[in-house]
Amino acid sequence: MPALQQSAALQPAYPVRTQRLLLRPLTAADVDALLAYRSRPDVCRYVPFEPMTRDVITERLATLWANTDLTDEGQALALGIEVAETGQLVGDVVLFWHSREHRGGEIGYVLNPDFSGHGYATEAARALLHLGFDHLGLHRITARIEERNEPSAKVARRLGMRQEARLVHNERFKGEWSTELGFAMLADEWQAYPSQRSSP
Ligand SMILES: CC(C)(COP(=O)(O)OP(=O)(O)OC[C@H]1O[C@@H](n2cnc3c(N)ncnc32)[C@H](O)[C@@H]1OP(=O)(O)O)[C@@H](O)C(=O)NCCC(=O)NCCS
Repeated sequence: MPALQQSAALQPAYPVRTQRLLLRPLTAADVDALLAYRSRPDVCRYVPFEPMTRDVITERLATLWANTDLTDEGQALALGIEVAETGQLVGDVVLFWHSREHRGGEIGYVLNPDFSGHGYATEAARALLHLGFDHLGLHRITARIEERNEPSAKVARRLGMRQEARLVHNERFKGEWSTELGFAMLADEWQAYPSQRSSP
């Protein structure tokens, strides 16, 4: 498959289907499922937000998370991860479009711990890489991971992302210095992984 040029926008047809999952916009009906994990301190330990209340989640659903497409740089697309067989919302993923000129993006993922250990985060994040590279035409997608967040680094490695940076005490994070691992994948590298390139 030839490398794509930057697309004007990403407007996925929902749900985005993978082998076991449906990725789809979050709705007001997801408040309880989101609260079940986004309110947990252990889930939020290494992510750039504090445990969320119902009010915060409700507000996000009406604003940032209501976005269903990417039409310009600086935007983020958050999608719920639903298990196709049960309809259970088990987590969420996000694709940031950082730069139109540099065709750069970033992914993030959060899973309800009750549903970890099944490969759902990896499967959902792989679908995001597919959307970012094959539909939006991104050149480079990154993931920024706190060094102690080994489960997250394992997801990035399973996706075939390269660890290309270790930024020692790069940021003040939740009251202490944090060392950040920088992972990245280029469109060319994505093309070289046939199993990952195929539609999720
Ligand atoms: C990061 C996070 C999403 C990883 O969750 P996870 O459940 O470990 O990741 P996956 O869903 O991809 O599952 C992978 C595990 O399932 C196992 N697995 C079982 N069946 C599998 C399958 N069919 N396919 C792939 N993996 C499978 C893998 O072996 C792996 O287990 P291991 O880590 O013991 O080797 C989760 O820890 C989390 O939400 N943390 C809090 C939020 C956070 O820190 N997000 C990242 C911010 S940078």
